[in-house]
Amino acid sequence: MTKINAMWQQYPGLAPELTATLTLMEQNIKTHDPKITTAILEMIHAGGKLLRPAYCLLFSKFHTADRQKMIALAAAIETLHTATLIHDDIVDDSALRRNQGTIQARFGKDTAVYAGDYLFVVCFKLLAHYTSGLRSIQINSRNMEKILNGEIRQMKMRYQLDMSLDDYLLQIKGKTAQLFGAACFIGAYESGSSQAFAQQSQQIGLDIGIAFQIVDDILDYAQSSTVLGKPVLQDVRQGVYSAPLVFALQHATPELIQLLKKGPQLTDTDCEHIRQLVIANRGVAQAKQLAAQYTKKALTGIQRLPINAAQQELYQLTQQLLDRQY
Ligand code: IPE
Ligand code: IPE
Ligand code: MG
Ligand code: MG
Repeated sequence: MTKINAMWQQYPGLAPELTATLTLMEQNIKTHDPKITTAILEMIHAGGKLLRPAYCLLFSKFHTADRQKMIALAAAIETLHTATLIHDDIVDDSALRRNQGTIQARFGKDTAVYAGDYLFVVCFKLLAHYTSGLRSIQINSRNMEKILNGEIRQMKMRYQLDMSLDDYLLQIKGKTAQLFGAACFIGAYESGSSQAFAQQSQQIGLDIGIAFQIVDDILDYAQSSTVLGKPVLQDVRQGVYSAPLVFALQHATPELIQLLKKGPQLTDTDCEHIRQLVIANRGVAQAKQLAAQYTKKALTGIQRLPINAAQQELYQLTQQLLDRQY
């Protein structure tokens, strides 16, 4: 049987549907090239957290929905997420994802590009097959455009020492929060909610997504690569300045600025030195406060939802994500 991340044992109502989501994804991976199929299946089985489908499914539980359709939508969202990760690892030239070699590292760049492309296709196939089609395809394509714009914004701001917190927030609202927002919107809307409820759900998802990316960026400075299952301190070397560094730069020591001026030439020792300076300059602590603010905003939104088991699970999950260690 398909195995999902162990964290879902705490959510017995959700776990079987997440297993079904993963199974449906697997069943839809059928390429003519065994290498591409294997690459994708191994990545899917490597234990991603399945957060976006989980939010989609939870937001669909405020109305009586066709569960099979909701599972298909959740699968479409996780498929899209997986595609963006594969391509992100090419752009970031990353060797590790979910504690195993990235598709690019194991199978080469071409296979990785096609595997990502293929998953974008699967995402739309799932949407077209399991829903009335047009509405969710519209939402999804708009959403993909916003993710892409966030990634492009990040690329254009590389190595800019005067990057502001607002610049950072714009990037992460696009590249990460959009998909969380869409997962919540689609979950609510496609289960028959009003447009107003779906929009309220989307706003909660956006705040969750912002907090989630800030925590991800904190872990890049404060956690080991082994626990995270992906490389650490890679962003700074590639000129991607995230919340902890942006905060640290506000009380920057000349030492930190001198190091950053080395740009792509930073060595491992330099990166370790930057990490220590970012922590000493309260960059991680301030980023944590910012993540807590967005989490609080999301939790306030969740408290306003009708009270039921899904609402309680939404609250618990969102709170748990702030203190996650991986
Ligand atoms: C990784 O997302 C990309 C970010 C937005 C930080 P996740 O941390 O949800 O990745 P998986 O799916 O659990 O591997
Ligand atoms: C992830 O960005 C966002 C997308 C996949 C679009 P990151 O580059 O920050 O995520 P990780 O750290 O590689 O998971
Ligand atoms: Mg990356
Ligand atoms: Mg990236």
